[in-house]
Amino acid sequence: MDDRQRYDRATAHLDPPFAVLDLAALRANAADMARRARGKPIRVASKSIRSRAVLERVLAMDGFSGIMAFTLPEALWLVSTGLRDVLVAYPTADRAALAALAADRRAAQEITVMVDRSEHLDVIESAVSQVRDRHEIRLCLDVDAGYVAFGGRFRAGALRSPIREADQAADLATEIAKRSGFRLTGVMAYEAQIAGVGDAPAGHPLLTPAIRWMQARSRRELIMRRGRIVQAVRQVTDLEFVNAGGTGSIESTIREKAVTEVAAGSGLFHPRLFDFYRGFTGHPAALFALPVVRRPANGVVTVLGGGYVASGSPGPDRLPQPYLPAGLRYAPDEGAGEVQTPLLGQAAEDLRIGDRVWFRHAKAGELCERFTGLHLIDGDEIVEEVPTYRGEGHAFL
Ligand SMILES: Cc1ncc(COP(=O)(O)O)c(C=O)c1O
Repeated sequence: MDDRQRYDRATAHLDPPFAVLDLAALRANAADMARRARGKPIRVASKSIRSRAVLERVLAMDGFSGIMAFTLPEALWLVSTGLRDVLVAYPTADRAALAALAADRRAAQEITVMVDRSEHLDVIESAVSQVRDRHEIRLCLDVDAGYVAFGGRFRAGALRSPIREADQAADLATEIAKRSGFRLTGVMAYEAQIAGVGDAPAGHPLLTPAIRWMQARSRRELIMRRGRIVQAVRQVTDLEFVNAGGTGSIESTIREKAVTEVAAGSGLFHPRLFDFYRGFTGHPAALFALPVVRRPANGVVTVLGGGYVASGSPGPDRLPQPYLPAGLRYAPDEGAGEVQTPLLGQAAEDLRIGDRVWFRHAKAGELCERFTGLHLIDGDEIVEEVPTYRGEGHAFL
């Protein structure tokens, strides 16, 4: 039985739209990520999962430890349900959430928030100032891991932290040590230009060598700079962890001595954007099904919904991929539509109204903002339905 037959059979009793997670694919992806990490723990990026039940399953697998959350309210909620060791990877200015963090002993023990300048410390101090019996806030220092060349005229990587050099990191660490109410516990330096940029992009023969050149240079530069930064901060304070990397960089990130753990999540669902890496392959695990509702002409079917466009710099690579049956493509004038999506191709000839088309999202967790649950498929049957964050009533971002 091929994958399409398996998915169709497992979900025959359901009316699309709905989303599924293929557990065999998830397990294989997780095992491969753990193999690539060679014993260094993988902190699961929750933004790329957005389902508590799935996070729990992943954390029970070998090689995974701790959560990288995307907002503080999310982290507070996860910890309130029993999850532990949550690093919030993006700075927060949420006063109520910061006050709740300082007021709750267990949350303050389990959650670490991100800072990259003293203004963040001011915001936190102001937010917690009214809390009586407040607990120490655990902090992680975010460091820019972007690649800069040609005297600053070329830059690759996410624009995140203003801290780039060891002395800047040590200065902020020293300031944190001087202020009361804070404890610096970690350093994070995420190399988006390697972890999130495929080095084998389809249809870009000229871009490919440029990407590979940039990534090779960046890897070399990071070994030195990240090492210096971590050493400088460790002279100011003991660190519990140094976090770096993402799905696309696991093997190079873990090779650095200074790095104690890698963050990754996308590889578990293996969305479309992660098809373009030389170093690893994965199994598409998270899919959504849309129903065929029209047949406007020969070689065209129209499915309901479909415009689940991924975040990032806009372009065709942000659209979901019509996956099964193979060979369907978007109508150039319409793309993935708000309420309906025409699909063209030979494969459309065999589809009837009520049939389903299976899609992959371009990114991982954003899919879960569209569905209240994920049907977990093992083999050719659904074994469970678990809620997404949205299904539990949460829309954090
Ligand atoms: C700080 C940080 N670490 C790691 C990652 C990589 O996550 P993933 O492997 O889920 O793509 C990201 C993604 O944006 C990130 O922002």
